[in-house]
Amino acid sequence: MAFKLIEYKREGDIGVLYINRPQALNALNRETLGEMKSFLKDVLPGEGLRALIVTGAGDKAFVAGADIKEMYDMTDGEFEDYIELAQGVYELIENSIPSIAAINGYALGGGCELALACDVRIASDKAKLGFPEVKLGIFPGWGGTQRATRLIGPGKAKELIFTGEMIDAQEAQRIGLVERVVPHEKLMEEAKNLASTIAKRGPIAVRLAKTAINAGYDMDLKKALLLEKSLVSICFKSEDRVEGMKAFLEKREPSFKSK
Ligand code: CAA
Repeated sequence: MAFKLIEYKREGDIGVLYINRPQALNALNRETLGEMKSFLKDVLPGEGLRALIVTGAGDKAFVAGADIKEMYDMTDGEFEDYIELAQGVYELIENSIPSIAAINGYALGGGCELALACDVRIASDKAKLGFPEVKLGIFPGWGGTQRATRLIGPGKAKELIFTGEMIDAQEAQRIGLVERVVPHEKLMEEAKNLASTIAKRGPIAVRLAKTAINAGYDMDLKKALLLEKSLVSICFKSEDRVEGMKAFLEKREPSFKSK
């Protein structure tokens, strides 16, 4: 499948998805979101990858948000469709294989929301993050009010969203908006190392741990613990569990088959 505004590269068990509109700081217009949707629905499931890195092409931006030029002229209905499209794409990422946002520059508005839809965020020390939407008379509508609140708490989420101010990578790490900050030139290497580490682990275990964390987060603790029990019991029945424990006892690396 040929793409124009995104680029997909595979390296062994790991995939890298580049948002590729550097001339517009990788702003997500409808066409780019449409390509992301096709990739996530029609390409990624058949690839058998263990982890996906999402990053921005060029040296300046991860994603500078929704495309303001395109959004300006939208009708009310088109705007609602745009929100629905982006929310759907981000849900596909959230419900897919383990994902890492490699934040190589500006991650603003919809760009910060894209990073929030990924499982782990690694930022370059040059990255800048924020939600400038209120400066445009809107507020984050691609999951930001919900996912930022869940990740960093309502106080910090409100401070960022109500002011529209950008923060640097160090501050983002301090408040828990990103998990790691690394030197700019080391970003992709660090992201690939992390993806490779995840790729070596039991794939069923990682997948079901993701489900337990994501689905359990919105449940009360009793229900979430039941979910955890049922999912980890599925792992226990797998061949990979036998292999993992056997490899430990035999003091060797496991060879998981995803069975
Ligand atoms: N949409 C469309 N085009 C954008 C864009 C965006 N979000 N961000 C940058 N661009 C374009 C610029 O218009 C410019 O294009 P031209 O050369 O054709 O004019 C090009 O990218 C380079 O940008 P700048 O010249 O502005 O670069 P800079 O270094 O001076 O500033 C910046 C960088 C601070 C990131 C600035 O571009 C900026 O503030 N961008 C907008 C960020 C923003 O407000 N994002 C939120 C969008 S709303 C949203 O995301 C909604 C939602 O949640 C639903």
